[in-house]
Amino acid sequence: MQDLWDALDAQAQSVKGRPLAALFADPARAPAFSVRAEGMLFDYSKTNIDADTRALLIRLTEAAGLAECREAMFTGARINETEGRAVLHTALRNPDGAVTVDGADVMPGVRETLARMRAFADEVRSGAYPGQGGAITDVVNIGIGGSDLGPAMAVLALAPYHDGPRVHFVSNVDGAHIADTLKGLNPETTLVIVASKTFTTIETMTNAATARAWMAERVQDPGDQFAALSSALDKTADFGIDPGRVFGFEDWVGGRYSMWGPIGLSLMIAIGPDRFDDFLAGGAAMDAHFRAAPPAENMPVLLALVGIWHAQVLGHATRAVLPYDQRLARLPAYLQQLEMESNGKGVTMDGTPPLRPTGPVVWGEPGTNGQHAFYQLIHQGTQVVPCEFMVAAQGHEPDLAHHHRLLLANALAQSKALMRGRSLDEAREIAADAGFTGAELERQARHRVFPGNRPSTTLIYPQLTPRILGQIIALYEHRVFVEGVILGINSYDQWGVELGKELAKSVEPLLSGDGVAADIDGSTAQLLGFVRSAQAG
Ligand code: F6P
Repeated sequence: MQDLWDALDAQAQSVKGRPLAALFADPARAPAFSVRAEGMLFDYSKTNIDADTRALLIRLTEAAGLAECREAMFTGARINETEGRAVLHTALRNPDGAVTVDGADVMPGVRETLARMRAFADEVRSGAYPGQGGAITDVVNIGIGGSDLGPAMAVLALAPYHDGPRVHFVSNVDGAHIADTLKGLNPETTLVIVASKTFTTIETMTNAATARAWMAERVQDPGDQFAALSSALDKTADFGIDPGRVFGFEDWVGGRYSMWGPIGLSLMIAIGPDRFDDFLAGGAAMDAHFRAAPPAENMPVLLALVGIWHAQVLGHATRAVLPYDQRLARLPAYLQQLEMESNGKGVTMDGTPPLRPTGPVVWGEPGTNGQHAFYQLIHQGTQVVPCEFMVAAQGHEPDLAHHHRLLLANALAQSKALMRGRSLDEAREIAADAGFTGAELERQARHRVFPGNRPSTTLIYPQLTPRILGQIIALYEHRVFVEGVILGINSYDQWGVELGKELAKSVEPLLSGDGVAADIDGSTAQLLGFVRSAQAG
């Protein structure tokens, strides 16, 4: 691998300073550095990747054994080595497929749970499963991390398809979250879904207990209006939820990859089982593409290689995800967990340090809002932020087509502006037109220069349908996988979240005055002191 990283470094040196716009002297540049799959187009031509660079990046996938690792994942090998687990979220979206783990067929269980979810979702939607006060009007999903971000993102994304009860999400242990959410809801017509793979997560269990107490004030049998999504079935029984409303999944579904199964129940209730099937079908279509297409025509592989080029070769520490799609407002947060919890690792599979920096910081906001906030830095700041634009060719509001035209125009214009920039001469003309002359013209002109050469990619899709959303999410999941394989890390554990959780357990008693302040540093002691005196009034 090292020789390939060295070759990529040399390649980076040799193309440094080459204007991106110059690459388009080749009329075939755009199609040659784009890939189409399942009706979507991923254009990475506005990056400094050329044919030589791409060939080297593809050799990286070969050296890392990507094809073998991919098969190992799809066929149920225990590739999450630090937890001894298979990684099979792909099985959830391909219920007609065949997969075994250690010789045991996992698919009958997948199909049975999906059928139970369908039946329950239909009952809730039709009113056949009512609350004490009649048909369910509101569903509250209580979960955090992977048990929240996926369904919360997707429920918003697919708003045009909602024809079920309203769906709300509570994640934060901050009482403000559940208090604000429950305010105005009728406990007699509310269904609470407790979503937690482990059923031990302190935020979720605290919120679930609060929701149960809220419901118990008005509902005779509050447990009847609770459902649970978990792989810890014994713990759901301890909480008092009838097994008929418990939807289980196996340990081979990672939290941040879990929205395709029971964790997606709130989405299924919102849009209906048939559209949920379309969402699954989109994911499965992207799986089939990822598994079969050669690297140079493989969308997830190319998305990953663009990421590797920018983060691990050129050293850009962050990347921005910029959906020009208001309904994808939660996508950046969702991708933060997917990418940063998966690839924010400091050791390789064998426990040695990685050869390159691992996952970059992922952030973003929908366009055009971001344009009026942080694009200043992206265009003129001193750090390069590779941008990942995404946009639908068509919106869902035919009467507002002129809005969509403006949205599209902005998305396309931003990637063009980032690439092309504005030269000092052009800026001088603008300053002169504004009436500046002499030294002041020169000074003013410099503030109006855009360096350009800022790389971006664009994913364009026909319309944000359930199927397309499934494709996009699976695309990003596989991108994470490919990057993880190249970096030699385990994308499927998350040991880095443990320490803070452990320390919170020892700090909490200090706040209630029950604990002994052993091993407390001066800063933490000072902060505790402030809280105590503020609380004492
Ligand atoms: O703390 C991190 C994490 O374990 C995530 O990986 C997971 O998605 C989240 O917490 C919630 O976990 P659970 O579904 O077990 O409540």
